[in-house]
Amino acid sequence: PRADRGAFSGRTAFIFAAIGSAVGLGNIWRFPAVAYDNGGGAFILPYLVALLTAGIPLLFIDYAIGHRWRGSPPMAWRRLARWTEFIGWWQVLICVVIAAYYALIVAWAANYTIFSVDTRWGDDPGGFFGSFTQALEGADATIAFDYVPAVLITCILVWVAIVLVMVLGVHNGISKSAIVFIPLLVIMFVILVVRAMMLPGAFTGLDAFFRPNWGALLNPGVWVAAYGQIFFSLSVAFGIMLTYASYLKKNTDLTGSGLVVGFANSSFEILAGIGVFSALGFMAQAQGVEVGEVVTSGIGLAFVAFPAIIGEAPGGALIGVLFFGSLVLAGFTSLVSIVEVVISSIADKFGLSRVPAALLVTVPLALFSIAVFPTTMGLSLLDTMDNWVNQYGIVGAALVGTIVLVYLVKALPTLRDHLNLRGTFPLGKAWSIAVAVIVPIVLGVSLIASTVGLIGGEGTYSDYPWWFNFTFGWLMALSLVVGGAVLSLLPWPKNSNLHRPD
Ligand code: PHE
Ligand code: NA
Repeated sequence: PRADRGAFSGRTAFIFAAIGSAVGLGNIWRFPAVAYDNGGGAFILPYLVALLTAGIPLLFIDYAIGHRWRGSPPMAWRRLARWTEFIGWWQVLICVVIAAYYALIVAWAANYTIFSVDTRWGDDPGGFFGSFTQALEGADATIAFDYVPAVLITCILVWVAIVLVMVLGVHNGISKSAIVFIPLLVIMFVILVVRAMMLPGAFTGLDAFFRPNWGALLNPGVWVAAYGQIFFSLSVAFGIMLTYASYLKKNTDLTGSGLVVGFANSSFEILAGIGVFSALGFMAQAQGVEVGEVVTSGIGLAFVAFPAIIGEAPGGALIGVLFFGSLVLAGFTSLVSIVEVVISSIADKFGLSRVPAALLVTVPLALFSIAVFPTTMGLSLLDTMDNWVNQYGIVGAALVGTIVLVYLVKALPTLRDHLNLRGTFPLGKAWSIAVAVIVPIVLGVSLIASTVGLIGGEGTYSDYPWWFNFTFGWLMALSLVVGGAVLSLLPWPKNSNLHRPD
C-alpha cells in the first residue's frame, strides 16, 4: 500500500471536510423550494424521517466501507468483493461528469460576486440568460458553440484554485481549505440571513415558507421529494464520503461524526430556507404579487431572482456579495470533494503518489471543463447532464451498490461491527432495516418515477432536440456504467495490496 495516501489530522479536520462536501448548492438553492413545494412547515416531518431512516444510515455505510477497507471507491469495493470493483469506478465516472459542470456554476457565482459590487444591476440588459451566459433556449442552444469570455476567465480561475488545493493534498489542501472556508461561509451566510430578514416583506416570505400544509403528507410524491433531497444533500452513495473516511485514523468514532455532519448539513438547509424566503418575501412585496409567484430554485433562483432582489433592495451590493460569495464557498468545497474521489482512485489503481495523481486528474479534467462549459452551449449541456447524472447515475449507483452490499456480498454485519467498534452509540436492527429495506425501496421508486416522467412525459427534456437528450443524457449515463466496468478490468500494479487490511 502507498505510504503517502494522505490522512486527516483528526476527527475535526474530517468533519470540516465532510461538511464542506455536504453543504453545497443544494442547500442554498434546492432545499428552500423543495420544502415550500412539498408542504412548507409540514415538510419537516418527511424530511426528518428521510434523514433518520435513509440519509444517516447510508452515510454510515459510506463511512464504514471507506474506513474498514481503507481505499478509494474502486479499491475499497474490490477489497470488499473482487467483482464489485465496477461500482467504485461507476462512482468515479459520476464524479468526473459532475466535476466538469459543477465548476461552471462556481465560476458563474464568482462572476456574480464581482458584479454585485458593481451596482449597475438594474441596467443589465439581457440578464443571466441573455448577455451573461449568452445561452440560447431549447433547440437553438444546441447549435451554437462559442466561448463566453467573462465565464471563461472565472472558470479558469476556479480550476487553478482546484489544482492547487488538490496538489497540496488531503491535509494541507482539502482539510485546511475546509477549515477556513466553512466557518467563513457560515459567518457570511448568517449575516446574509439576518440582513434578508430585515427587508420589508421578509415576514410574508417566512410565513409562506413555514406555513404547514399537513395535507401534503398524504401525497407520496412529498415523501419521494424528501428522500431525494436528503440523498442529494448528504452526498451519500457516490464515493465521496467513502473516500474521505478512508483518510481517517483507525480508532475514530464514525457514527458520532456522521451525526454531526448530517445535522450540520440540515441546519444549513433550514438557515438557507429562512434567508431565501425572506428575500423572496421582499421581492414579492416589491412587485405586489403573492410569494408563491416568485418562488424558484436552482439557476433561476440564484442568477435571476437574486440579481433582481439585489437590484431593488437597499444595500443590495452587500447582499449580493454575501449571497454569491456563499455560493462560491459552498460550491468550491463540494467540488474539491468530488475531484478527490477521482484522484484517490487513480492514485490507488496506478500506484501513483499524491502530486502526479493530482496533476494527472485535475489538468485533463480542467482542460475538458474549460473547453466545453464556458460556452453558449454550456448551460444546456449542464442542465441535461445534471438531470441524467442525478436521476440515473447517483440514484442508480446507490441502488445497485446497496443491493450488492446487502444481498449479494452480505456485508451488513461486518460493517455494523466495524461501526460499533468505536461508535458513540450502537447500531442495531433499526439501522439494518433502514439500509436493507427502506433505502432500496425509496431508490427504486424514485428511479421508476423519474423514468416514467422522462419517457411518458413531455417526450424530451426541457425542449432540447431528441439527439441532445439521447447523447448527453441516456448515452452519457449508460457510458458511466459501461466505462466503470471496463476500468475495473484493468490490472492493478503488482505491489498493490488488494486484500482487506486489518
Ligand atoms: N451535497 C451537495 C449539496 O447539497 C451537492 C453535491 C453534489 C456535493 C455532488 C458533492 C458532490 O449541494
Ligand atoms: Na447538502
